Amino acid sequence: MFKQKVYVKRRAALKEQFQDGILLFIGNEESQILVRDTVHKFRQNANFLYYWGLNEPGLAAVIDIDNDKEILFGHDLTTEEIVWEGEQQRLHEKAELIGVRQTAEIANLKNVLLNYRKGRKAIHYLPQHHANNIIKLSELLNKNIGPVKTDYSVEFTKAVIAQRSIKTTKEVAEIEKALKISHSTQTAAMKKSRPGKYEYDIVKNMEKILLAKNSRWAYLPIFTVDGERLHNHHYGNKMAEGQLVINDSGAETADSFYSSDITRTFPISGKFNKRQKQIYEIVLQSQLKAIAAMKPGVKFWDIHLIAAKVIAKGLTKIGLMKGDVDEAVEAGAHALFFPHGLGHMLGLDVHDMEDLGEDFVGYDEKTKRSKQFGTAYLRFGKELQPGYVMTVEPGIYFIPSLIKQWEKEGKFTEFIDYERVKEYIGFGGVRIEDNILVTETGNRVLGKPIPKTIKEIESLMNK
Ligand code: GLY
Ligand code: MN
Ligand code: MN
Repeated sequence: MFKQKVYVKRRAALKEQFQDGILLFIGNEESQILVRDTVHKFRQNANFLYYWGLNEPGLAAVIDIDNDKEILFGHDLTTEEIVWEGEQQRLHEKAELIGVRQTAEIANLKNVLLNYRKGRKAIHYLPQHHANNIIKLSELLNKNIGPVKTDYSVEFTKAVIAQRSIKTTKEVAEIEKALKISHSTQTAAMKKSRPGKYEYDIVKNMEKILLAKNSRWAYLPIFTVDGERLHNHHYGNKMAEGQLVINDSGAETADSFYSSDITRTFPISGKFNKRQKQIYEIVLQSQLKAIAAMKPGVKFWDIHLIAAKVIAKGLTKIGLMKGDVDEAVEAGAHALFFPHGLGHMLGLDVHDMEDLGEDFVGYDEKTKRSKQFGTAYLRFGKELQPGYVMTVEPGIYFIPSLIKQWEKEGKFTEFIDYERVKEYIGFGGVRIEDNILVTETGNRVLGKPIPKTIKEIESLMNK
């Protein structure tokens, strides 16, 4: 948690954006696996964390703009509840930590909101994704589920995104703490991976490192020799000589909850073979060129296209693609190999603020989302600004079904040599991901460098 004044200042800046009405913040509840006592580890909603800092269930908060009041809603445990939960700080003590003077019992929130509504005050709330928060809002506002989902406040949503998008020095320091942990997990994974080990052996080893730092995954890690399956959370493969493994894993800091999001790809044997080297180098150059072009005022959309063109050019050079590179990328032919977007914002959420709406975060009047396969998955296209923290994560994958389908459809035969491409089925994939701060003049790759060149990776794996 940050110091009290950080939260006071964040709320003050938000309040300045509104003339009147009520800003309502809904904290997360425990998320049940089975029943009340069988739960996932608790994680507070990031918007709540940003303004109210407290990582515990059963909270809500209100900013009454007209009367310049902030109220934290929660519950002081009864003795019977203390038997199970243990002693806790009183609600007013928790409020003190974040500079809030007024507290109220959460059971009274519905009545408080009813009185606001009777007073004809607009109640602004943010888009909600967890089913229990949607139900909670429905009960609190006496509204059906459908309208609860759609009647969120666009004004409030945009104000929060504008504020959370610009990371302060303190926030960047937290992301770098998460990256320090990622440095340890990523390098340990390279050192420990060997033919004959299972993927879960390495995931277990990385998890030990997280726990030793009282940290946890920022998202379910991807650690797989089947790198062409983009969202693969299976760790059951026995790793073999000649395979590459994709390690896309990030840490969340212990008590401030900022994330890292790092991908490295390396050969299980510790040595890239010739074909792996060729593909890896293309992805690496794509990532380096993309990063080099990042600065304020440039659209991330254009950075995505820079990365795509390096990929198309590299694949043309080795005979998998053909024709004019610019035309191939314009048409979307590169997406056979690079079917996802270049990156996204990073912060308290690994895909930062996407619960508030991907298009609100990543697009604006000047930049509209593409409909083309591949680029349509670009989560963020708009102009970069100083203070943005972005991931840059190009990749090349050989996805058997996609290759077969495009070939069958005769798609982009002017740009793709399917006979050559089919020779790569079984290759898997390569992705390289780093976390980049946009500065006033350019950018800075955050964290201590994690081995990334072929030479660095092979040298670490063969020490
Ligand atoms: N780890 C998810 C992503 O890279 O976006
Ligand atoms: Mn990632
Ligand atoms: Mn990412």
